[in-house]
Amino acid sequence: MNAIDKISETDRYARCVETSKRLRWDIEKDVIRGRRFDTTHKFLPDGLSLADAFTTLSADEKRFVSQIQGRTYANVFGLVERFINAKVLELSHDHWFGDQVALEALVRFSDEELKHQALFRRIDKMVSDLLPDGYRFDIDPNSVARAVLGKSTWAVLALTLDIELFTQLHYRQSIDPDAELSELFKDVFLYHWREESQHAILDELELVRHDAGLTAEERDRAVNEFIELVAAVDGILQAQAKADASYFMATCGRTVDEAEAGAIEAAFLKAYRWQYIHSGAQHPHFGKVLSGLITENQGQRIQSALATLQ
Ligand SMILES: [Fe+2]
Ligand SMILES: [Fe+2]
Repeated sequence: MNAIDKISETDRYARCVETSKRLRWDIEKDVIRGRRFDTTHKFLPDGLSLADAFTTLSADEKRFVSQIQGRTYANVFGLVERFINAKVLELSHDHWFGDQVALEALVRFSDEELKHQALFRRIDKMVSDLLPDGYRFDIDPNSVARAVLGKSTWAVLALTLDIELFTQLHYRQSIDPDAELSELFKDVFLYHWREESQHAILDELELVRHDAGLTAEERDRAVNEFIELVAAVDGILQAQAKADASYFMATCGRTVDEAEAGAIEAAFLKAYRWQYIHSGAQHPHFGKVLSGLITENQGQRIQSALATLQ
């Protein structure tokens, strides 16, 4: 690495610190502001909930589905942020006796993820006071984090970059333009997105820095581990699609026959795979960063693995 690269890298960490300080927000004072959710508004936009895939449901039922999916959206972020934060704290070790600006950027990153998890717990509680009883989200964030952190740093950072980039894409492409969304739900993800923008820059800096120290064999193994992590994410999505479909059918107020039940569960899974796997995999910047690090063959292995999750 030459002197110019080094300066620009420190400068990128410094800009993240500066932006993080400028945009810093408070859960109650800035986001919630004494507001409540109500059942007349959608929580997730049609572009994310894939409302059109729920072909047998009425407009009111589709709105209920968007509220269930919105609650799950908050819970999934709360889940992934547990391992993201642990990995960020671990990576900060590399900067303890080095670039103090980079260290500050990662400490702020970690602090923000702790706050986001508190925000998503708050949202889950507020929605639970509004929607019928019986909703389940039984995936334990600590067990998932332990399993994820058993994979190589390269694989975890690649997954984290993917997640933190799609958060921004979801907000800009779907959440912001939808006029029928709950204003409170929209604000939760506006404020979240503002801090995630810095996280995605830091993920990329850390991934590229870490990648530079790997051998070709280590990177090749890491690509396999990244594919394993995506498959593990899919396992979580399958379980939650089943849970959310069962909750919808138990509380929608009418009888659903077996064929329709299968279609509803399939639509939930399609929406969750879109939200947490395919929208990120298709993110142009994610593709650009990854293709700068891996071979064409490794890229194809990732693409073939993703193609099986349809
Ligand atoms: Fe976050
Ligand atoms: Fe983040």
